[in-house]
Amino acid sequence: MNYSEKVMDHFTNPRNVGEIPDADGIGEVGNAKCGDIMKMYLKIEGTTITDVKFKTFGCGAAVATSSMATEMIKGRSIEEALQLTNKAVMEALDGLPPVKVHCSVLAEQAIKAALSDYYRRQGIDPGPIVGTVPECEDRHE
Ligand code: FES
Repeated sequence: MNYSEKVMDHFTNPRNVGEIPDADGIGEVGNAKCGDIMKMYLKIEGTTITDVKFKTFGCGAAVATSSMATEMIKGRSIEEALQLTNKAVMEALDGLPPVKVHCSVLAEQAIKAALSDYYRRQGIDPGPIVGTVPECEDRHE
């Protein structure tokens, strides 16, 4: 399979891997296509995402897209993070092979799940802000 240099770089040297023990929001999602899992940790101050870490049992493409996605939302506002799409992440990586596109959805969904968790902890209904993040069960087709 042909991966871009950027994908290989983020796969072999992923950024922001790990956990944040005192995270303000944690999201865990599963991939319907392969069953792989992604966990995302966010540290939020005011409306800014000051730190982000991820852990995954996903494949190399999932590692690379999560690494890039975390780089793209770190230091940004919640609003900007909510607008991040897997397409934008793939573009930043110079593309993914078509059979690997589904892997890039994990990072986007995990960020949304972590933001939902953040709002829930504040006693705010995340639905109108974040939209629906499919539950794990829904995604096993
Ligand atoms: Fe499961 Fe890529 S094959 S995330």
